[in-house]
Amino acid sequence: MATTKTKEIPAGRVSGLIQAEEERFRRARARSNQLWMEAREVMPRGVPSSFQDAAPQPIFVERGKGSRVWDVDGNEYVDFHNGFGVMVVGHAHPKIVEAVSRRIQLGSHFAQPVEDVIVVARELSRRFHQPKWRLTNSGTESTLDAVRIARGFTGRDRLLKIEASYHGHHDALMVSVEPPPDRMGPADHPASFPQSDGIPAAIVELTTVVPFNDLPALERAFAEHPGEVAAVIVEPAMMNVGIVLPDTGYLDQVKELAHRHGALLIFDEVKTGVTIAPGGATERFGVTPDLVALAKAIGGGLPCGAVGGREDVMGVIEDKRVAQMGTFNGNPLTMAASRVTLLEILDANAYAHFDALAETLQGGLDEAIGRYELPFHVITLAARGGVTYRARRVRNYRDYLEIDKSFAYLSWLYQSNRGVLMAPGAEENWTLSVQHSIEDVQRYVDNFAEMARDLRQ
Ligand SMILES: Cc1ncc(COP(=O)(O)O)c(C=O)c1O
Repeated sequence: MATTKTKEIPAGRVSGLIQAEEERFRRARARSNQLWMEAREVMPRGVPSSFQDAAPQPIFVERGKGSRVWDVDGNEYVDFHNGFGVMVVGHAHPKIVEAVSRRIQLGSHFAQPVEDVIVVARELSRRFHQPKWRLTNSGTESTLDAVRIARGFTGRDRLLKIEASYHGHHDALMVSVEPPPDRMGPADHPASFPQSDGIPAAIVELTTVVPFNDLPALERAFAEHPGEVAAVIVEPAMMNVGIVLPDTGYLDQVKELAHRHGALLIFDEVKTGVTIAPGGATERFGVTPDLVALAKAIGGGLPCGAVGGREDVMGVIEDKRVAQMGTFNGNPLTMAASRVTLLEILDANAYAHFDALAETLQGGLDEAIGRYELPFHVITLAARGGVTYRARRVRNYRDYLEIDKSFAYLSWLYQSNRGVLMAPGAEENWTLSVQHSIEDVQRYVDNFAEMARDLRQ
């Protein structure tokens, strides 16, 4: 962490730069703007998912190849967004194109099992040390199923979740995802805040919220609800508020506490799975949960998810006590893409390549932060990483709230205007792909250094 010496940024500097960058951004995206206006006639906010509506305006994309994407105005970008952490294989990877093309000619959907589901499930078992798997189509479905399995297995209803973790958009976990400061309750005893209208209060009441990296608060939550808790669900490294790492030993202790109180531990590895190590956070942090939810990168760009778990826990599906189903589960196209992703693309060389890219980013960004004495730091974890606009480490949501989000927005504009597409939003973290080169990531570093210099001028 480059936090040795930092200086305040002069007031007004960031807003002045944002204004200039927004104008430049809009000038180069007239066609995107026009399509957005048209889309608004038929879609709320002019986008198919609310995540895609980000200031100053959505970028409509035309195509992608390798590490690059091109928007409808002809702007070319190195893709650091990578479809919200999905495209670690890069765009139009020849092996994915070949596997999906071959498969589609043999029929694209049967809702009957195909042989590839066995190959995919075996490989997930090997990576995540879970003997039994089911397939889904998204992260939302994976965490929804994990929760239902845990409730079915334990015969209990209550969930413990971490404040500011996002686990998808189903009711049980759309609680205190980004609670407003006036509704979030005390730091060591957060309120359960519904993240959307339309979520019944009775459901919200069943989800107790605890801060990340806080074992006494977790202990207290168990004590307040004796014999009620089905599961604790955590993102082992939080990735929807920048990147927040677990304290050493924290995940082990969460598992121990959960088990002591008769509850299960669920890892939401939708973002960390296969991106921060071959076996995700399970491997990187050395803790195996009772259930793991996967999605995003495991499908090589097709809508794929999976839920894996202990033999006895997944036995509730075997016994037909818990329903786990879906028309598109194990879809042949998805499975063909997942199979090549897991067996042929994300091999040992891929992870060595991610580490080399991460080293270039970490070194280059640390150098710029140090040179310009900025109160920021960088976290890299193989294919994932990001800049945190705060000198000190973030341990939980309350720390994250102290960050001035305008730096993240300015950075997003600088990168977009200079040929790097980042995921929108203040949470600012990137996903690299096997098709990214050192030159690609150097572009991010150079753009960042330019912003750092301008912040100091
Ligand atoms: C940690 C985590 N869990 C679950 C989800 C939901 O996944 P999906 O958007 O595929 O439903 C997300 C989405 O970003 C996520 O980041």
